[in-house]
Amino acid sequence: MNKDGIIKRAEDFAKDRMKNFDPGHDWWHVLRVRRLAEHINIVEKSADPFILDIAAILHDVSDSKFNKDNGSYEDIRRFLISAGLKESENQVINAISNISFSNRNPVGDLKDPVFRILQDADRLDAIGAIGVARAFSYGSYKGNKLYEPSDNRMGNQGTTIHHFYDKLLKLKDLMNTDAGKELASERHRFLEIFLKQFYEEWDMKNA
Ligand code: ADP
Ligand code: NI
Repeated sequence: MNKDGIIKRAEDFAKDRMKNFDPGHDWWHVLRVRRLAEHINIVEKSADPFILDIAAILHDVSDSKFNKDNGSYEDIRRFLISAGLKESENQVINAISNISFSNRNPVGDLKDPVFRILQDADRLDAIGAIGVARAFSYGSYKGNKLYEPSDNRMGNQGTTIHHFYDKLLKLKDLMNTDAGKELASERHRFLEIFLKQFYEEWDMKNA
């Protein structure tokens, strides 16, 4: 099978597995991450573009938030082998199994360019205006409150505003690549602007 054929098969496989995910993890998220990864790799020139794209297409298929059983890496392995990508199987699984922010104990090759670029691309889609939209989408999917005032401005744990402090505001300093850092700094600024306005409206500062 040629590369275009394999890409098409990977797209069909991922679309099918992700059809019940929240709108923040829909097919558009995958397309944005693919474009971000491609952009970073054009600057960095460190990863094989085809393998990077395959990894980007498959990166959320086994997301543990939506898949209770962890068997789905095996599913992805089977897919890769059936698509003739046995040689790249471990590299792709290494990248997608380590990108999660919540994965505090990554194991594998964290210097691999496919992993480093894909993690940056996925993190960039969690910040900026799209990141704000995705956070509230996922928060609603979980039934979380927007915000619940507490002693500090972060609000109570379990609210979407609290998630900004738990995760989103930390991402810019966790970028792996220079191209990722550059994009992250502008998106990070937007998170700060959003929070400032959110509190001003909450407190009716301008009324
Ligand atoms: P990771 O898997 O790398 O930990 P996630 O998959 O949790 O990252 O994040 C994916 C998207 O879901 C991000 O846009 C993130 O902000 C959002 N998200 C994850 N957890 C929460 C939460 N508790 N509240 C709001 N948004 C969340
Ligand atoms: Ni993702």
